[in-house]
This record gives sequence, C-alpha cells and structure tokens, in this order.
Amino acid sequence: MVNELSTKFQPKIVGFLCRWCAYTGADLAGTSRIKYPPNVTPIRVNCSGRVDPTFVLKALASGADGVLIAGCHPGDCHYTNGNIKTIRRFKLLQRMLTQFGIEKDRVRLEWVSASEGERYARIVESMTQELRALGPLNWKSKVAVEVEA
Ligand code: FES
Repeated sequence: MVNELSTKFQPKIVGFLCRWCAYTGADLAGTSRIKYPPNVTPIRVNCSGRVDPTFVLKALASGADGVLIAGCHPGDCHYTNGNIKTIRRFKLLQRMLTQFGIEKDRVRLEWVSASEGERYARIVESMTQELRALGPLNWKSKVAVEVEA
C-alpha cells in the first residue's frame, strides 16, 4: 500500500536558519517531538544578515523549490541590526525573483526565537503546503541562468 506522503509532491526547501534563534527553535521542535513535514534541509548561519541573496538564488538553481530564511525577531538580533538588513535585502530579492518569473512566495523570511519550536513547525508546514500548490520550480526551464556564489 502506498501512503499519502509518498504520492504527494514533496517540495525541497533549503532553510537558512540563524544559529542564535531559528536554528535552536528548529532543534526545539525536534526535541519536543512536534510533528511537521521533513521538507526543510537546514543550513545554520550566524545571522539572517549573513544570507546573501546569491545564496538563495544558488539554492533555487541547484534544485530547491523554495527557500526559508529564518532569524531572530526584530530587536533581538545578536548582531544588533543584521535582521533589519535582511528585511531590506529580502524586498530586493523578491523583486528579482519576480523579474525571473519565479513566484516570490517560494522564498520566505520569518522570525523564530529559540523558544518557538511550535512556531517553526507551523511555518514549515504552511510553506510546504504553499509550495505543493505551486508545484516544482524547474529553474532550468524558467530561468536558464547559471548562478555563481
Ligand atoms: S543573530 Fe539572529 S538574525 Fe541576527
């Protein structure tokens, strides 16, 4: 018997998670045994501000269907204003994606504290559902551009 999980499109999501908050929040979701889809491959970064837009493009060009950037809540960044820079860059990144013909909802910026395991799980769940509705990205046929990072 084929279960439901194996028949649905399983989007690949790369998650750039700030080590001080979102990564720990993701860890808490796991240690608390909160159920959520296994679609995110987490990459620990020192701050959401470390996530260069080229990292996101490289992830999408390398086969990801979506990218999650998650950092400390505004005002809580370990490096004072790294996440504020992220907000500014994110707006530009969304514009760039739209110009490439990529749905901007494929990339999300979220704030998750170290104690918000439940919030992290719900974000992953809703992002997975949204990407399922959008379908596979197929970067090569849409964009046909190699990304150097
Ligand atoms: S240290 Fe977490 S977003 Fe900057």
